[in-house]
Amino acid sequence: MADFDPVTKAVVPAAGLGTRFLPATKATPKEMLPIVDKPAIQYVVEEAASAGLLDVLMVTGKNKRSIEDHFDLAFELEAALEAKGDDERLSQVREPASLATLHYVRQGEPRGLGHAVLCAKQHVGGHPFACLLGDDLIDHRDELLKRMIEVRNTYGGSVVALMEVPREQVSLYGVATIAPTSEEDVVRVTDLVEKPPADEAPSNWAIIGRYVIDPAVFEVLENTPPGRGGEIQLTDALRTLAGRSSEDGGPVHGVLFRGRRYDTGDKLEYLRTVVRFAADRPDLAPEFVPWLREFLDEIG
Ligand code: G1P
Repeated sequence: MADFDPVTKAVVPAAGLGTRFLPATKATPKEMLPIVDKPAIQYVVEEAASAGLLDVLMVTGKNKRSIEDHFDLAFELEAALEAKGDDERLSQVREPASLATLHYVRQGEPRGLGHAVLCAKQHVGGHPFACLLGDDLIDHRDELLKRMIEVRNTYGGSVVALMEVPREQVSLYGVATIAPTSEEDVVRVTDLVEKPPADEAPSNWAIIGRYVIDPAVFEVLENTPPGRGGEIQLTDALRTLAGRSSEDGGPVHGVLFRGRRYDTGDKLEYLRTVVRFAADRPDLAPEFVPWLREFLDEIG
């Protein structure tokens, strides 16, 4: 195995306006919406930590203070729970602050995912890093990020997570042109296009919100003009890196993910995710699942 610089940091863009969830997101960041009883962003930080990434940079914006509070100590609350001897809740309250070391940088103006990643330049420096998008939750039993880091350690360059989606959905994603490698779950990414119309998509392999990125991306992003939606697109910068050699920040590989991904990005997907998570919880499922069955019969 070549001796590539190890991946130790994660970047979590969390500066989006959350317009799809208004009015809930008027004063609350969408990242703080609960999936059962935990904010979505906590699952993402847990995922980074369990892949060994204990340095997490959040790229935040306006109205995001509650994210910082969530990953901080909560002295008064902790003292009150301690006084009551409520150890279970106390450990739930303490957990987020113990997962990883959190850092914050503000994006200022929302100029797209590529611009959010560029805001991480100073913190990340010249090292490869993971990037996790909070709208996508990956089941903790499917160790996607660990596999992506392994692939980066084998091939260098950058690694995207690809999932096969129905043709009518490709216009919601970055889509990859791929070529096989000797590993069944790894492909070489030869081209990328951000949110193509279904009839122009090069494949059904969509980028889902997990990346391991070579630091060469920063220089590329600085020179990437606004793309789809007038925003600076990470996909466009990765496309440039896909065409480069390993001496120059390339190449880009894809890990083909066939596990469980939960989308929380819009209302319907969010509802599905909450129901799935609740049905999987040993403390809730015994009552929730029979109720759900009855409810479905009731509404026919
Ligand atoms: C972003 C990326 C897109 C990717 C998607 C995954 O889009 O730009 O390439 O496929 O995340 O969730 P967004 O969903 O933020 O519009």
